[in-house]
Amino acid sequence: MSGSQADKMAKIVSLCKRRGFIFQSSEIYGGLNSCYDYGPLGAELKSRVKSLWMDSMLREHENIKALDSSILMHPKIWEASGHVSNFTDPLVDCRTCKARFRADQLDLSSCPKKPSKKPGECEGEFTEARQFNLMFRTFMGPLQDESAVVFLRPETAQGIYVNFLNVMTSSRQKIPFGIAQIGKAFRNEITPGNFIFRMREFEQMEMQYFVKPGEDMASFEEWKEKRMQWHLAMGIRKEKLRFHEHGPKELAHYAKAAFDIQYEFPFGWQEIEGIHHRSDFDLKQHEKFSGKRLSVHDVDTKESYTPFVVETSVGCDRALLTLMVDAYGEEQVEAKEGEEGGQRVVLRFSPRVAPVQLAVFPLLKKPELQERARKIHQDLKKTYRLEFDESGSIGKRYRRVDEIGVLSAVTVDFETDSVTVRDRDSMKQERVGVEQLPAYLAERLIT
Ligand code: GAP
Repeated sequence: MSGSQADKMAKIVSLCKRRGFIFQSSEIYGGLNSCYDYGPLGAELKSRVKSLWMDSMLREHENIKALDSSILMHPKIWEASGHVSNFTDPLVDCRTCKARFRADQLDLSSCPKKPSKKPGECEGEFTEARQFNLMFRTFMGPLQDESAVVFLRPETAQGIYVNFLNVMTSSRQKIPFGIAQIGKAFRNEITPGNFIFRMREFEQMEMQYFVKPGEDMASFEEWKEKRMQWHLAMGIRKEKLRFHEHGPKELAHYAKAAFDIQYEFPFGWQEIEGIHHRSDFDLKQHEKFSGKRLSVHDVDTKESYTPFVVETSVGCDRALLTLMVDAYGEEQVEAKEGEEGGQRVVLRFSPRVAPVQLAVFPLLKKPELQERARKIHQDLKKTYRLEFDESGSIGKRYRRVDEIGVLSAVTVDFETDSVTVRDRDSMKQERVGVEQLPAYLAERLIT
């Protein structure tokens, strides 16, 4: 990462803390590496991301149903899925500084002793590479022996496969249909990093679409496009998104074809979502390991078959980081119309994503202004995610709302039948009649 790009990431991390988006987990104890807590605005933003994803699945498709399966599952599931034997990364240790690296990602790491150098470019010498399983193991019940071992799920998808028939029959679905789930996943990553990009505890939003063999490739193409459209609809700039097709060496053990959607972060083009053609691998494996039938029977054609699966899998935290990075901007501003001069930082969230869409300010702390501003706040709060702020100069309040991505700021002054509305992006202020305010805002904020 170049100096200016590293600087941009550092500024985003700092803004996240300062404004209450994201905090280091267990900070007062020195922090827990690769784990993060979402503060008030981060929690709101995350819940926006999740609901916009779930809506795009459930509200736009009658044949997609939700699921919330448990994190702890029967340990045999991870044998069947291949995670016990295959979910590994090659690991090397540096004999000099004792740091551990992913052998296949040395060029993305840096030496902890000499951060300007990559591991191996210093005088360090590596051990032989060995495979390291990324699943977290724990014990269920009072015995702590091998018979009590369970895993924290490394992906939410397996909970969907093992419930495939439960969902299909209980919700009276026929192939093709999908199951959508949002939930925590855990991976003991060797080299977590880049803030919330690679974490050890994170959240996934996964949808498995079950299709008849023969209709799989058309469905795969359709989901690829739909998922790219979703990122664009979140307001992400088109030129910062691209597809990356997995070559034979990159394909996961279960995949017949796979594309990533990548975003250009300050640290380079990186995966934010995977669209995978998983064939009938998972259902067949669970049939084999559980001894239970997981095929379907088509009463019209009298055929029985195991469906193929098209999976869309996006990290919620990664989608959120994409939004933060894409929205972040800095610019020089002249002092005028209540604006403070100097550099302003602005998050240009789209209206559907912004955790706070609107702010209402009394110009001064005077009872008559406060009362009228409170009334406007009260009238609008059912329609918008909004904030009321009466402390500090108006210029400071504008700066703060820019930094958290608020689209419009309504200021109540001594004009009794009108207010000013300041636009985040243009910083222009317009005088709007109190009566006309709901329609004026609806045009700008309801998407
Ligand atoms: N079920 C398929 C699956 O889990 P994956 O490519 O390993 O596929 C899917 O993960 C998505 O989950 C990734 O595109 C990324 O957005 C997110 N993800 C994976 N590992 C992550 C980590 N350590 N931290 C944050 N997000 C992660």
